[in-house]
Amino acid sequence: MSMHKFDPKHHARLDDPARRKILNPEEILRKAELRPGLVVCDIGCGTGFFTLAAARMAGEKGLVYGVDSSAEMLELLRKRLAGDGQTAGDGTMAGGGQTAGGERADGGRPDNIQLVLSQELAIPLPDRTADFAFMSNVLHEITQRSSFLQEVHRLVRPGGTVTVVDWVAAPTEAGPPVEDRLPKEQASELLKQAGFRVVKEFEAGPFHYGVTALKPA
Ligand SMILES: C[S@@+](CC[C@H](N)C(=O)[O-])C[C@H]1O[C@@H](n2cnc3c(N)ncnc32)[C@H](O)[C@@H]1O
Repeated sequence: MSMHKFDPKHHARLDDPARRKILNPEEILRKAELRPGLVVCDIGCGTGFFTLAAARMAGEKGLVYGVDSSAEMLELLRKRLAGDGQTAGDGTMAGGGQTAGGERADGGRPDNIQLVLSQELAIPLPDRTADFAFMSNVLHEITQRSSFLQEVHRLVRPGGTVTVVDWVAAPTEAGPPVEDRLPKEQASELLKQAGFRVVKEFEAGPFHYGVTALKPA
């Protein structure tokens, strides 16, 4: 089982514009049925590749928690949201734990994002916080997947969903070694074992799959 964690020193890879060609955040979040007004937890958010898209799609009535166990990754996202020290439209530093909701008046970075430093198997947010939990390229990095998904289950409200996006378990021109990947069938099975009901499996670009699962009400 994999112990391999993404090395923050390679963070630029996550925001390489070419990445959008193989992993389009808006298209994937649409397939996962992210709607305006939802409370989103982007777990393992990294530098915010999906967090920013989710914040725009959740809109001013929505809220996005960018959750990561790496303080280094969260700091990169915090700096990105702060926009070189510029302040958000309401005068608060975006990403500094303040929420003003929605898009900045200048059309720039969303300010409905809160950053949350988590531990490997513990996310410091209350039970039933999320309408929409999301993990991109994270689950394959986790060793104690069942315990981790139980924590995600705690976080999702009944009637809410979790979506897992991860690398297909076949050789591709980019991505982690095949032996470190998590096949879609295993991801679906783990979600079921954690108490979710799988409602959708979809292609998330040429190299990734998506699985959406519901927490029954
Ligand atoms: C490959 S990066 C993906 C980042 C982002 N989701 C994306 O697709 O651009 C994996 C991220 O998951 C985070 N991570 C790994 N294990 C985690 C855990 N147990 N809880 C929260 N974050 C975790 C890492 O710190 C890293 O930022």
